[in-house]
Amino acid sequence: MASVDEVPPGQSKVVPIGRWGVGVYNVNGRFYAIANYCPHEGGPLCAGRTHGQTVKDDSVPGGAVEIRDGEFIYCPWHQWGFELATGTTAIKPEWSIRTYPVRVEDGKIIVTA
Ligand code: FES
Repeated sequence: MASVDEVPPGQSKVVPIGRWGVGVYNVNGRFYAIANYCPHEGGPLCAGRTHGQTVKDDSVPGGAVEIRDGEFIYCPWHQWGFELATGTTAIKPEWSIRTYPVRVEDGKIIVTA
């Protein structure tokens, strides 16, 4: 489906699997795969950007810091964020996205449904 070289750390690739495609993400050498579909209103989730998670930290100016850089995908339509590893969202926990197991074999990224 994709080679490891095609998805370097911090990058992603949408592969044509299923109705909407599957986004494959490389986060610091770990691979994740998610459906390219947002459960909120059907937005093209993988067209969004990855970021970390903002958490409260009173020790810094502004009172917040970003942690776990690159581990969350944000939908381009309304910015709902989903954790790549689990597919869960803090916005509406019962609406998680589909995730797929990923493994690497002989330099190839293999996604299984
Ligand atoms: S369609 Fe994705 S956040 Fe609304």
